[in-house]
Amino acid sequence: MGNNTLTVTDNRTGKTYELPIEDGTIRAIDLRKIKAGADDFGLMSYDPAYMNTAECKSTITYIDGDKGILEYRGYPIEQLAEHSTYLEVAYLLIYGDLPTKERLDWWTNRIKRHTFIHNNLIEVIQSFRYDAHPMGVLISSVSAMSTLFPEAKDVENPTVREKQIWRILGQIPTIAAFAYRHRIGRPFNQPDNSLSYTANLLYMMDYMHQRDYEVNPVLAKALDVLFILHADHEQNCSTATMRGVGSSRVDPYSSLSAAVAALYGPLHGGANEAVIHMLQHIGSVKNVPAFIERVKKGEGRLMGFGHRVYKNYDPRAKIIRKVAYEVFEATESNPLLEIAVELERIALQDDYFISRKLYPNVDFYSGLIYQALGFPIEYFSFLFAIPRAAGWLTQWVEMLNDDEQKIMRPRQIYLGASRRDYVPLDKR
Ligand code: CMC
Repeated sequence: MGNNTLTVTDNRTGKTYELPIEDGTIRAIDLRKIKAGADDFGLMSYDPAYMNTAECKSTITYIDGDKGILEYRGYPIEQLAEHSTYLEVAYLLIYGDLPTKERLDWWTNRIKRHTFIHNNLIEVIQSFRYDAHPMGVLISSVSAMSTLFPEAKDVENPTVREKQIWRILGQIPTIAAFAYRHRIGRPFNQPDNSLSYTANLLYMMDYMHQRDYEVNPVLAKALDVLFILHADHEQNCSTATMRGVGSSRVDPYSSLSAAVAALYGPLHGGANEAVIHMLQHIGSVKNVPAFIERVKKGEGRLMGFGHRVYKNYDPRAKIIRKVAYEVFEATESNPLLEIAVELERIALQDDYFISRKLYPNVDFYSGLIYQALGFPIEYFSFLFAIPRAAGWLTQWVEMLNDDEQKIMRPRQIYLGASRRDYVPLDKR
């Protein structure tokens, strides 16, 4: 078998096994042949939270957490953020290569043909209370889309799949804007397809029939860059959910609604909101050193710092920091920015953070930008979900096309009661 193997000795039996290593990985199923006796089920690996388990082979997104590298289909995130647009990046993710000019026009057209939402979906959005959390509205709206487009059930058909992708990418911004206008009790603005993807979103949220209304191009561009940075991040909680639910071959709306639910959680899509609360709590630059001391004593965390995968500056955070300054030049400056910059300056020099490899992550500055763009805090996760839809759908298609994938079905270690007989109620 050569050197690309792992030799394992089972000390229970003294038997030795040679397991192939492929792409730095052994197959968990190969452990099954390691048995303590004829009746033994075979060895399994135990990996709560999938800390060290690859659930798929993927060609979409590459992350090197130690070096702070993020690439979509091989293209560094820095280059995409500088030169590309969100819709082009969505195409890159879904089709695997950058589009020609013709293909980009075709793709943009496809998405823009699907920005209007069905009246029944508008009724779904309007049925929520004015203060419903936007992520609750999004989960329900995407799930309701599966009832409006029943042909989406044909998930093995690539043409049908492609159409649902156009619909989802086209309609999610409209759902976001309508949910927002419903919340503030204002009439809905129908999509303006002459605008860019993000300018149209800002327009649908803001427009109040002013004469000479124009979306600020700096703000639309900043949002577009943020969308590029959030488009995919390989196997995180919501993406694994999209794949897991999709593996049952349910329609993509149902899977995507589950992925949105996963993103809704405060440990996943909600950290940017926590950063704003933390900055507001600190209140002033002069309180930063005392706050850092409290964090070092374990009395709370520096939100927006640290990452399970990145043990270096999150490459997205570097880009976002720059965008934050551009946005603040075009809007009123946000006093919280000064506190954030000071927090970062002190933390990056402090041995507590250096020794634990704690650097700013994507959420450290993104909330400040969303706030400057005028979005209410509860909308921050929605602004994560809109661009991540491209990543979720790409991963979903890759899963369906992967011959090695089946319906997701993890194993467990049963530690409950041994077999016992039912005791009638009057004898307990
Ligand atoms: N502030 C202070 N100390 C921290 C922080 C922090 N933000 N993050 C980790 N640590 C310390 C932690 O106390 C521990 O110290 P010790 O070894 O002395 O016990 C050490 O660093 C390792 O922490 P961990 O909790 O084992 O690390 P993890 O990989 O399980 O956690 C994390 C990753 C992101 C949950 C964590 O860093 C954190 O809570 N950060 C703040 C919340 C945040 O910003 N989340 C957004 C993540 S990026 C969003 C995305 O990409 O989806």
